Amino acid sequence: MSAWPQLIPSCRSVTNSPLPLAAESNARKKIRMMKNKVAIVTGAGRGIGRAIANRFSAEGASVVVAEIDAARGNEVVEEIRSSKGIAHLFPCDVTQEHQVQALAAFTLGELGRVDILVNNAVSSLEAIHGNSWETLDVVLKGAWNCIQAVLPPMIEQTSGSVVNVSSANALMGLGPEHVYTAAKGAIVSVTRSLAVEYGKYNIRFNVICPGTTRTEIWEPIEQANPTVFEDLSKVCPLGRIANAQEIAAATLFLASDEASFVTGSVLAVDGGLTAGNQAFRKS
Ligand SMILES: NC(=O)c1ccc[n+]([C@@H]2O[C@H](COP(=O)([O-])OP(=O)(O)OC[C@H]3O[C@@H](n4cnc5c(N)ncnc54)[C@H](O)[C@@H]3O)[C@@H](O)[C@H]2O)c1
Repeated sequence: MSAWPQLIPSCRSVTNSPLPLAAESNARKKIRMMKNKVAIVTGAGRGIGRAIANRFSAEGASVVVAEIDAARGNEVVEEIRSSKGIAHLFPCDVTQEHQVQALAAFTLGELGRVDILVNNAVSSLEAIHGNSWETLDVVLKGAWNCIQAVLPPMIEQTSGSVVNVSSANALMGLGPEHVYTAAKGAIVSVTRSLAVEYGKYNIRFNVICPGTTRTEIWEPIEQANPTVFEDLSKVCPLGRIANAQEIAAATLFLASDEASFVTGSVLAVDGGLTAGNQAFRKS
């Protein structure tokens, strides 16, 4: 207990802030977390990627929407521009190395730098349900390609932040999408090894693991089973599923300078789904 009065002044001296803590906190609320940052978000044409692109823009970032479906991607770019944000569409398939190299070159050409990469793209529901290798390709090879393309400018800048979007599937056994689970597990492992290797360049690599999140990919599942979200909410400690904005908020933190000492971390954003098994709860 008695350590606190000593600790607080030493924390203040670390932040170098002349403001009292409450005033500092109020002042910080007005600061946009991504001012002057340049971010690439893959699969940003809908769902979680779209929410991330919009949130980053609202926080001041210039965003490159890297999306295989150009019409979808264009809608998001228009959405951001109509809110006075800066956004560009780069239609590309993240599994194609040359297209991703062109994505990085385009970003550098248009915006001069690349501070943030979010690897969010995922294959179609059919590929996920069919345990197709295409899912491994989009999730793992796609992320790898994008990381390789942005590493040279990030190394030159000696700064960068990569957030890989994994899944609760990587943290607990959830069938029957085994290839999807394998891909999402692999992305957790490679995030850690990259964090270890590139920390010396001040490049951070982190992962978020969302739980069930209402996005367009779920629409055919909900049509076939109208109670699917109700059923999934029952096994989640918070008693509900997520919306895409909640996943975007966690991504914003990890991508931003607010997480400047966070690398190699795995953040579950799953309402407590992977925290334990409710079957053991005493009624
Ligand atoms: N929705 C959930 O319940 C949930 C849960 C856990 C994790 N996630 C993860 O969050 C991420 C986003 O999920 P979502 O629900 O928004 O998915 P979504 O299907 O709604 O969006 C994915 C986007 O990626 C694009 N895409 C597909 N292949 C691509 C490629 N080769 N190159 C570029 N873009 C491509 C699609 O066109 C689409 O716009 C995924 O990585 C997913 O695994 C989602």
